[in-house]
Amino acid sequence: MPSLDHTQLDIREMKEDEAPVVLELLKDGFKDTENRLILYVLTRPLALLLMAVVSSGLRFFLNSFVVALVLPVLLTVVVLKLLLWRSPDLGQLHAYYSAERRRLWVAVYDEEDVCGCVALEPRAGPHRAAELKRLAVSRWYRRSGVGRRLLTFVEAQARAQGFRQLVAQVSVVTKAAIALFESSGYTASGGGSWLGYTILQEFSKEL
Ligand SMILES: CC(C)(COP(=O)(O)OP(=O)(O)OC[C@H]1O[C@@H](n2cnc3c(N)ncnc32)[C@H](O)[C@@H]1OP(=O)(O)O)[C@@H](O)C(=O)NCCC(=O)NCCS
Repeated sequence: MPSLDHTQLDIREMKEDEAPVVLELLKDGFKDTENRLILYVLTRPLALLLMAVVSSGLRFFLNSFVVALVLPVLLTVVVLKLLLWRSPDLGQLHAYYSAERRRLWVAVYDEEDVCGCVALEPRAGPHRAAELKRLAVSRWYRRSGVGRRLLTFVEAQARAQGFRQLVAQVSVVTKAAIALFESSGYTASGGGSWLGYTILQEFSKEL
């Protein structure tokens, strides 16, 4: 949807009855990311080597070559899915984002179409930093400036709340989000790794 009328786009706090729509939006936004991240991890040379070693070991106990080959891959996928699926706050989205200075805003097009969301959470530590979370745009509205509007909005909110720094954790496979942060003045400031491979990139910006 490249020709979006931005005068029709409003950003406001999520209402309680909008929580299910936002949850679907988030699930849709992160389903692709999760699958791509699992594929990325599985195809790292060290992960392939470990699975090959486990597979060779299983051959001593199993008669089937195919089962010995597939089992380590399946187990790795299950473990990764469980690790990525830890988001206790998603079940009570509205309650979670109504407490302790945590806020979640939605982008609404034409007064009724919830097409994006973003959240802000204070971060523990001495730097008066806040964390940007739950940034997602409905796939029908992507690449039409909604994501950048949400980012600019949340930066203004963080500044108004007295935060000095905004931080976002981005999966290395989400090229769109990385391009968005890089083109909005964010710099890579750390990250999380698995088997020595960076899987989460942290971006930050001084406000
Ligand atoms: C990341 C996301 C929020 C971007 O939203 P969006 O509304 O499509 O973004 P915008 O249209 O405002 O684009 C802003 C910039 O992001 C970058 N960008 C957006 N989509 C891109 C894509 N598919 N490929 C490359 N860069 C992209 C570009 O730099 C773009 O600027 P430009 O249009 O001037 O080139 C959206 O793609 C999304 O919801 N993805 C799934 C969930 C996700 O990854 N969330 C991020 C978690 S931190």
